[in-house]
Amino acid sequence: MSGTSKDTSGADGTAAEQIAALRAEIVHHEHLYYVMDAPVLTDAQYDRLVNQLKALEAEHADLVTPDSPTQRVGGKPKEGFAKVAHSRPMLSLDNAYNEEELRAWADRVRGALHPNDVLEFVCEYKLDGLSLALHYDASKHGGSSLQRGITRGDGAVGEDVTSNVRTIRSVPLAVSADKLKVAGLPASFEVRGEVVMPQKAFEQMNREREAAGQSAAANPRNAAAGTIRTVEPSIVSQRRLDYYAYFLLRDGEFLLPTQRETLAALNAAGFKTNPYARTVSSIDDVIAFIADAETKRDSLGYEIDGIVIKVNAVAQQRRLGFTGKAPRWAIAYKFPARGAVTKLLDVLFQVGRTGKLTPVAALAPVGIGGITVARATLHNPDEIARLGVRIGDMVAVERGGDVIPKITEVVSTADDSKPIVFPTHCPKCKEPVIRAEGEIDFRCVNASCPARLSEELLHYASRGVMNIEGLGEAMVAQLLGHPLNDPVSLADVEAPDAPMSLDARDAEMVENSDATSAEEPTRNALVHTVADLYDLKAEDLLTLERVGPKTAESLIAQIERSKQAPMYRVLLGLGIRHVGERTAQDLANTFGSMDAIMTATEEELVQAEGIGPIVAKTIREFFAIDKNRGLVEALRAAGLQFTAEKKVVGTALAGQTFVLTGTLPTLTRDEAKARIEAEGGKVSGSVSKKTTHVVAGEDAGSKLDKARELGVNVLDEAGLLQLLG
Ligand code: IVH
Repeated sequence: MSGTSKDTSGADGTAAEQIAALRAEIVHHEHLYYVMDAPVLTDAQYDRLVNQLKALEAEHADLVTPDSPTQRVGGKPKEGFAKVAHSRPMLSLDNAYNEEELRAWADRVRGALHPNDVLEFVCEYKLDGLSLALHYDASKHGGSSLQRGITRGDGAVGEDVTSNVRTIRSVPLAVSADKLKVAGLPASFEVRGEVVMPQKAFEQMNREREAAGQSAAANPRNAAAGTIRTVEPSIVSQRRLDYYAYFLLRDGEFLLPTQRETLAALNAAGFKTNPYARTVSSIDDVIAFIADAETKRDSLGYEIDGIVIKVNAVAQQRRLGFTGKAPRWAIAYKFPARGAVTKLLDVLFQVGRTGKLTPVAALAPVGIGGITVARATLHNPDEIARLGVRIGDMVAVERGGDVIPKITEVVSTADDSKPIVFPTHCPKCKEPVIRAEGEIDFRCVNASCPARLSEELLHYASRGVMNIEGLGEAMVAQLLGHPLNDPVSLADVEAPDAPMSLDARDAEMVENSDATSAEEPTRNALVHTVADLYDLKAEDLLTLERVGPKTAESLIAQIERSKQAPMYRVLLGLGIRHVGERTAQDLANTFGSMDAIMTATEEELVQAEGIGPIVAKTIREFFAIDKNRGLVEALRAAGLQFTAEKKVVGTALAGQTFVLTGTLPTLTRDEAKARIEAEGGKVSGSVSKKTTHVVAGEDAGSKLDKARELGVNVLDEAGLLQLLG
């Protein structure tokens, strides 16, 4: 434990004092860990402090404040993210793509200033994330606390994503009075900066998404942007977003006279600023800074796509002003794309959980930006047609911020080049593949295809589904008695220190030319369907390699525990195409039981909120297949949850969807919602054709207009109470 912190475990004083001391200590260590990247406590020591605080707060609920470090993950926003106007527009930057453009910009800047003005530039890394404004205001117990986090949106109006921003550990929930003083900040101020998803967090997120049968995010920026708009703060919290601050405003004006002082003040107040920022006084120094950044770029642990150069003095910034959407006083130097030209040796096919065949380019290995690239995505048949690419061609390959390199064009073709042919039969199970009308992709429709089963098991066990710890790739491979699909992931963009020959990888992939190389199981499979997991005994697992009694017992216990997972997770676990978490929840809420969903007609399914005709059709198709119904019955027999937890007492409003708007005379919105739901009705946030009633109170707004436009029945509170009986 650090010398500056005192041990509060046995501290005297009132509960309030103990809580305050613990909080200060935890905030201090979080700052060391998340902002300074220099922790002094072990995880266990830190957890102990947090647990002490949680225990005290549990005893003294009245002392819990929103800026307590225990309160990062709170409730989700009630009605989506509210739109909020920015105090001053959040602008974008003009780009420079080479030294010449950069020098031209500097000349324009120089020309617009007085001849004897001293010109300095602050060079900052251009973090590849999304910009976000944080608003702080005076809090009751001195200091400031975070009030709001707002996305850039269209620059003028953003979305209030505070509940998610609070989960970002490098965003202080509060700034103490002491820190405000040291930093020279008023109690009310605004910080602007960039939310990024560090490389490691990004890789973990994609592993989880892939295991859950969801598409992987292409790059950390998309992942960060998607995460910040996720409606479930606990999920955002797991994603480990990071925040780097770069501007400090008050009432829409820069607070301090220079950018350098701004970064220093942000730092002093406890915000994370990028440690590589430098102030320089000539464009030659800027160019040297860029060259240095390019050498660091691949080992930062987060993506940068260039350098932002800002005129340091705010007085000079004012003189320079703006052009349309961007300031004249700053410019973004964009790094050139990292690319190379290499030969397309072959095209391999990967069979996903839903049976989709994805073509993957096998390339003659080539170094791009410190990484050896031997694989590139070809997405789908349309992409192959668009590129006009053939096996044997020389192709241009680019690594943007994206994980999987892309083929951007054919550079030259060879006389002996061959067309890329999609297999007519699944390369894994040899059953015919189909391309449904109107669909781009080819699919293996054999539900027992071994390639699909391994993906299905991983999906079933993943955190967002049944959360069966210990049932990862290695275990699944053992249970199935054969090696898994080679996933197309970061593994294909191998680091130089982990070389793996192309040949070794090819052995794991199924080749284009050879649709008959389905692997023979190397031993008997213990599991043939997801439901077989529930028949496993510890003794069975002990027959596997590297599985001792402890591992076996714990996996069996985890599998047993999964029987308690709510019904929507079971539904999600079935791996029905288009049925993600949200849809599974909607279905469970509307229908209440697995049987009701299994027997619902397409017409009944589309009545449910969030279910469109395509999803309804896929659900029907899924349950029409004997094998799938057999799986469901096996899961029922194993004792999984087949009814939704929701306490529906009556059915007076079953199948009806309500939208509440305005203030009702006696019921609060939550009460009205609870009462509607207790009678089997659904409450939605927006009016659509599926809405059966709009309940309007005083000051009802656009939802009422929409209801009238769509001819939806409009009720007042009395009308609702009548329906409720
Ligand atoms: S300054 C008007 N500084 O790049 C000033 N932006 O292309 C605009 N960005 O929207 C922001 N790192 O999302 C600034 N150190 C940095 C940045 C940065 C990344 C992003 C930001 C902005 C975009 C402009």
